[in-house]
Amino acid sequence: MKKLRSRAWFDTPENPDMTALYLERYMNYGLSREELQSGKPIIGIAQTGSDLSPCNRHHTVLAQRVRDGIREAGGIAFEFPVHPIQETGKRPTAGLDRNLAYLGLVEVLYGYPIDGVVLTIGCDKTTPALLMAAATVNIPSIALSVGPMLNGWHRGERTGSGTIVWKAREMMAAGEIGYEEFLDLVASSAPSVGYCNTMGTASTMNSLAEALGMQLPGSAAIPAPHRDRAEIAWRTGKRIVEMVHEDLKPSDIMTRKAFENAIVVNSAIGGSTNAPIHIGAIARHMGVDLPLQDWQTIGIDVPLLVNLQPAGDYLAEDYHRAGGVPAVVGELIRHNLINTDAMTVNGKTIGENCDGATSKNKDVIRDFDNALRKSAGFLVLRGNLFDNAIMKTSVISEEFRARYLSNPDDPEAFEGRAIVFDGPEDYHHRIDDPELAIDEHCLLFMRGTGPIGYPGAAEVVNMRPPDYLIKQGVHSLACIGDGRQSGTSGSPSILNASPEAAAGGGLALLKTGDRVRIDLRKGEANMLVPEEELASRRAELAANGGYQFPAHQTPWQEIQRSMVDQLGNGAVLKPAVEYQ
Ligand code: FES
Ligand code: MG
Repeated sequence: MKKLRSRAWFDTPENPDMTALYLERYMNYGLSREELQSGKPIIGIAQTGSDLSPCNRHHTVLAQRVRDGIREAGGIAFEFPVHPIQETGKRPTAGLDRNLAYLGLVEVLYGYPIDGVVLTIGCDKTTPALLMAAATVNIPSIALSVGPMLNGWHRGERTGSGTIVWKAREMMAAGEIGYEEFLDLVASSAPSVGYCNTMGTASTMNSLAEALGMQLPGSAAIPAPHRDRAEIAWRTGKRIVEMVHEDLKPSDIMTRKAFENAIVVNSAIGGSTNAPIHIGAIARHMGVDLPLQDWQTIGIDVPLLVNLQPAGDYLAEDYHRAGGVPAVVGELIRHNLINTDAMTVNGKTIGENCDGATSKNKDVIRDFDNALRKSAGFLVLRGNLFDNAIMKTSVISEEFRARYLSNPDDPEAFEGRAIVFDGPEDYHHRIDDPELAIDEHCLLFMRGTGPIGYPGAAEVVNMRPPDYLIKQGVHSLACIGDGRQSGTSGSPSILNASPEAAAGGGLALLKTGDRVRIDLRKGEANMLVPEEELASRRAELAANGGYQFPAHQTPWQEIQRSMVDQLGNGAVLKPAVEYQ
């Protein structure tokens, strides 16, 4: 049997001084020398739950069942905190914290006597942060989702977290509800512990962690308060001890084949536009080549099978009862879209785990012949506005197509007049300004919101139309930007534009009033501005010191800005990728 790495702390007769120091301090709360020197695996529980992180807070309860499982399988549990990441509570954006939590966890896993780790995932960025760290350190690791919240309800209708905010905001703008009712409506969407019950970034990343093979099959979608959530916590604890004995590591599981599976599953579930950023980051830390273009090549023609808000009607409880990830993967296997030989944490392949799994509710998880959409993947666009950006084609409505169509003979090319905002504050100040003369044929641009411009990249590209247009029944305009969009938003947007304006991207040259053309067939997005004019704008911008962005507010903002990669490359810390 392989010597466990924790032996280097607790059992080194050749170095008695250090052994004594390590032992006495870990014994001081009641662990015995007998236990620590027994050769039992030491299992870390990377705890992301806290009062500051309500989405993951239930992990503080579930951890007890994880410990039970670890003990039962012959391991010893060491629970420790991870830097909190709360998607909705962190200013200026939780986008700043993914890489910080990653760095912190790498230090813990590397520097302490840990043989294997349970990664407690849930809220949006906790999942990628922990999987990125597991990829870098590459010790046996298993993810445990906290599980989604129960369904939200208001007056007999499902209210989904995040998604309801966009809807309620429109209702308030249209004068249908007031401030109090607005707050009540939004609160109704969060009825229990757990992460967002819509197919936003949290549900997406938890489903993809299972599709990658890093969670026990069937575990991603179990609602947080359900009894089987506690049971899977116990099974996860038991399994990680076995994984340590088997030396089953992230590099055995998160292979190129597993990442291809994640891309396919993302299309089928209607996954968040944040997925390419986070999955791309995990792949980079794992050393797996996964260019952004793969999202289109592999994922574009996969149909939308999961009928969850924002793309569909249902919520997380329905998704779980219909069979969750295994039911989706089972249907994808029947259509030869899954690499069935990809290994997973339970020591079996994804094919062995999911072959034959079927949906128990065919309206919630559809079969191929009844899919919600035929092609649900992302288009990767390029042009003089950016080198790459993604678009979720599944949210493009017929109304949208008609509004921006420039030539009936070319139904995949769209044109409109650009309205440009520099950051979310500028947008909030000016969106209702009649001087902009925004009409239903305009495209809204948001720049200065990438990883450097708005440190961490803000989720602000989903912009609502001005109030006067909403009152006329125009509920969304095309939005384009170098920031991100909440996975709970269903608006037709072109996102994650890289390089961002603050990194010298073409978006910095765009002016309000320019015409912009988007050609879905060619995969292009261009401002229709002559090259000489662009050159003179470029020279003027350079003479003014380049695209201006706000000052750093904290040391970490400055550090991250100095070494962060663009969204199209996973927004990883560039030097960190060297450590494999
Ligand atoms: Fe944490 Fe949605 S805000 S999961
Ligand atoms: Mg989000």
